[in-house]
Order: sequence, then structure tokens, then C-alpha cells
Amino acid sequence: MFELPNLPFAKDSMPDFCTAEGFDYHHGKHHAAYVNKLNAAIEGTDYVGKDLEEVIKTSNSEKNMAVFNNSAQHFNHSFFWESLSPESQAIGGKTLTKIAENFESLENFKEKFTTAATSLFGSGWTWLVETSDGKLEILQTSNANTPLTEGKKPLLTLDVWEHAYYIDFRNARPDFVAKFWNHVNWKMVEERLK
Ligand SMILES: [Fe+2]
Repeated sequence: MFELPNLPFAKDSMPDFCTAEGFDYHHGKHHAAYVNKLNAAIEGTDYVGKDLEEVIKTSNSEKNMAVFNNSAQHFNHSFFWESLSPESQAIGGKTLTKIAENFESLENFKEKFTTAATSLFGSGWTWLVETSDGKLEILQTSNANTPLTEGKKPLLTLDVWEHAYYIDFRNARPDFVAKFWNHVNWKMVEERLK
């Protein structure tokens, strides 16, 4: 059985980006529903007892969409909470070097990531990932899709499903994306690059 993780911060700690009500819905209802549906979908199957990444990869190759969609959304949301920080953080040295190598500058990276997040059509996710040969890429994935099935290592993600911002920003996705930069957990990105 999979469990909904607690948010790794207080739900009222970043109201400019997401209010306590926003987290109550996004974490307490949307993420919780993916976990509950995942547990219901795997009950009595060989998926029970496997770790989450294995469930995602196996259900993707077996095209078991009920298991894939809910397991991938469970992973993506858990990773999204870890991507956030209540306080504005300084970017780590290794992260800054890698970003400069791959995107010329931090400003250029932010601009490209922002464009990817605001232009993604419909529901999905924007990611910073590391490829198997050590390059950094910005990736857009639709719906539940996740870099794990492409063999890419997630470093940072932003949920751009409408449910992520509708309570606090209504339909204004660009305003939500702009506030993300106040709350990036650069310490986690640095740890994952090591
Ligand atoms: Fe979400």
C-alpha cells in the first residue's frame, strides 16, 4: 500500500505561491486521490510490494493506464512538494555551473523554463532533468507522464495542471509560474546533482 506523504513544509508557509487552502486541495484532495486510486488499482495484483519507480516503469511498458497514471501522479506530486521551499534559497555552486554550461546563464534557464511551463498545452509538468550523459534539459510532460520512463533523472519540477493554481490564481498560469522562482528548493537540486 502506498501512502500520501506529509508536505515537507507548513501549508501556510508560501501564500504568495499557494495558500493553505490551495495545498488543502492540491495535496489533501488531488494527490490523496491518486494514492487511493493507485492502491485500489493494484489490489490483488503483482504490483503489490513493488517500489513506486518499478510500478511506474512496469505499468508504462504493460500499458496499464490505471496503474501508470496514478503511480506516476503519486511520484510527480511527491517530487513537486520536495521541489518547493518556503524561503527563497540561494542556488548551489554545482547547480549554477551546470546550468551555465547547458543554458548559458541562470536568467536564460529561468526564461526557457518559464516559457515551457506557460506554453504547455493542457495538463502536465515542466521539469529540469539530467540525462544519462550528464546534460541538463528542460522537459515538458503531458498529463501523468514522467521523466522516469525516459531514463532521465528529475532535478526539479513544476505542476502546471490547472488544479495546481486555480484556487489562488484562477486561470492565470503565468502568474503562478512567476511566483515559483521565489520557492525553488535549490538545495534539493544540488543534492541530486552530487
Ligand atoms: Fe497536481
